[in-house]
Amino acid sequence: MINKNINYYVNGEPIETDAVIELDNSILDYPQPLSEFEDFNVMLMENSIKMTCEFSDDDMVIGFGQTVKGLNKRGSELISFCADEPEHLPNKRSLYGAHNFFVILGETVTGYFIDFPGEIKYDIGFIHKDIFNIIIEGVDVKLYKIKGDTLKSVTKTFLEIIGESYVPPKWGFGYQQCRWSYETADDIRKVAKEMRDSKIPCDTIYLDIDYMERFKDFTICDEKFPDFKTFVDDMKKEKFRLIPIIDAGVKIEKGYSLYEEGTDEGHFCENEEGKPFVAAVWPGLVHFPDFFRKETRQWFGNKYEMLISHGIEGFWNDMNEPAIFYTPKKLKDFYDHVESSMEKPLDIYSYFELMSKVENLSNNPEDYKSFYHYIEGKRIRHDKVHNLYGYYMTRSAAEGLENIDSEKRFLLFSRASYIGAHRYGGIWMGDNESCWEHIELSMKLLPAINMCGIMYTGADTGGFQGDVSSELLIRFMQFSLFTPLMRNHAALGTRDQEPFAFDKATVDILRNVIELRYALIPYLYSTYMKSVKERSVYASNLIMEYDDPRVKEIEDQLLIGDSLMIAPIYKQNRRGQVVYLPEKMLLWKAKDYMVEDTLLLDKGDHFIENSLEEVAMFIRPDKGIILGRVAETVEEIDPSIVSFLAFIDTEINETFYDDDGYTKAYKNDENQSLKIEIRKEDSYLTTQVVFDHKSRVEVVNIIVFDNENIRFEGRVTREKSTIILEKVSKNEK
Ligand code: GLC
Repeated sequence: MINKNINYYVNGEPIETDAVIELDNSILDYPQPLSEFEDFNVMLMENSIKMTCEFSDDDMVIGFGQTVKGLNKRGSELISFCADEPEHLPNKRSLYGAHNFFVILGETVTGYFIDFPGEIKYDIGFIHKDIFNIIIEGVDVKLYKIKGDTLKSVTKTFLEIIGESYVPPKWGFGYQQCRWSYETADDIRKVAKEMRDSKIPCDTIYLDIDYMERFKDFTICDEKFPDFKTFVDDMKKEKFRLIPIIDAGVKIEKGYSLYEEGTDEGHFCENEEGKPFVAAVWPGLVHFPDFFRKETRQWFGNKYEMLISHGIEGFWNDMNEPAIFYTPKKLKDFYDHVESSMEKPLDIYSYFELMSKVENLSNNPEDYKSFYHYIEGKRIRHDKVHNLYGYYMTRSAAEGLENIDSEKRFLLFSRASYIGAHRYGGIWMGDNESCWEHIELSMKLLPAINMCGIMYTGADTGGFQGDVSSELLIRFMQFSLFTPLMRNHAALGTRDQEPFAFDKATVDILRNVIELRYALIPYLYSTYMKSVKERSVYASNLIMEYDDPRVKEIEDQLLIGDSLMIAPIYKQNRRGQVVYLPEKMLLWKAKDYMVEDTLLLDKGDHFIENSLEEVAMFIRPDKGIILGRVAETVEEIDPSIVSFLAFIDTEINETFYDDDGYTKAYKNDENQSLKIEIRKEDSYLTTQVVFDHKSRVEVVNIIVFDNENIRFEGRVTREKSTIILEKVSKNEK
């Protein structure tokens, strides 16, 4: 339990969100009144709370998780209200997640987490550049203030109090292929075959809404997917796992068991009159399960069993903001409006009115005010707890999966989220576009989302909406290869986006990129698990690590774990870019996973040439990464042999984490660590590898560069775990 550096404030009677679960009772039991919160001027009003403070010149505001904004949110307006927002434009104020954790970084460093499940508006120096205004649309709120010396320490304390992040099965780090939709089993068989024929590693293929019988959750369309169990088994024989989508809305249809049971047992959200609330999503008219009720979570969560009994091991939960295409009520208003306007001329005003009626049919704020949940027996209007809906759907699934098989790790991620959901699953970044700006956006999202505890995340690689070009897909993949979730997904009606669907030269490059991903999995997985266990972030902006004024504005270079910096290309036709190194580093330009093209670079600015087939990676001094042997799937990566690529300045002490990858034994610290030490002795290097008795590694091939750019190599085995590394060459490049 944690109690350091935290002040805890409460106003009213906040709804329990279970976002913060590891805070000492000596703090939780004695909250201070919010009116005594001194950092902001707090105005308690009848139905809302306004908090205001003035920025100092140099204050930066970092955090807020999933937003379209960059590293420093100062100058932005944001609204924390989970939104089904397919247009990730720079002026958008909400996306799918509500992540109310931010850090003000200036003379002092302070983190704040506003634990409130309704809407919060943030004007972060937008209207007035030095004024930070927060409007909380309610009066029952918890606020945590976290003090620390650095952004890193404040973030760590926050990650400590919100509890351990979700851990996917290791195969969730493989390359994943999605599409809206592979409509039939044969379509999927074809994709699987093409992947294998083109020798592209791949672990999973996704089932989007068309696998269901008319979009009904927990059904399978027999016509398109006959004998589903055999199909899943066949795909497993081909070494593919299938990941079906589950949507929040349950189709209203007589005889459909989920609908019948949900109605009989009272699991659906109610409208004002106490009848099940009706909205329309993919299946047509639906009811929404009231995931706020424990019994409903159990009921819905246990339904995943049907798919699991067919051999399914992972799910993505969608449309759980919840997205509403329209409600019958709003549709009727619209039709009435059209009817009454028919006879009148459509002038400019009535035209705009008509258009706005259409636009406001979906996700209408009034609709969110017209249904109710039961929270511990109390009826609460949806908009007041809106931001928890997706979180509780993910929780329902995770609790169900735990109940079905408590030892197994399932793949699980969601579209909507709130802090707390990070313990149950990951998120994907939603419906982006095939455009260059969305590589850049994904680079902004990854560290910000990680700061809020959600480690398992990634973008629809290649872009969801619109057609992708081959160059864009290559560059997108070259970034996504570093994200925990590496999934290519594209929308209905867009061109084929699978890596094999391109010209031969592109396919060759994409294969190399995906193979590089598989080679890096030992390092990426170790980094992921360390972030979970040590309560650090998986990916971070440089500002998290370096006390260097230059890095404050750098958001297109990221640190992946402790050892690696990346600087992905995110502009069309760019074949090189200026990269700032806050310290000297070893550059590895990987055309594939063979360590050939390396170069030692000093601290400072460098123009790094970067051809289309190259991925630039930078290894920090006295750090290294481990690489595995490439295989068709994660399961097939040979665990007995790894390479260690490092850059020695003074000495190296690295520990890499591994585990069985499937069970929850990691929770009992059952790991298989590998410790690698390298020392300098006059003109040579010695290395010692400590193989944990559980580690499956038998051989470590070492490649180390020293400060003079000299390459040393050696092969360490269990039998010979201390060796002198041989000087191989001076790298002339
Ligand atoms: C939503 C999801 C998208 C999915 C589509 C159809 O737009 O965000 O990923 O493909 O629905 O299910």
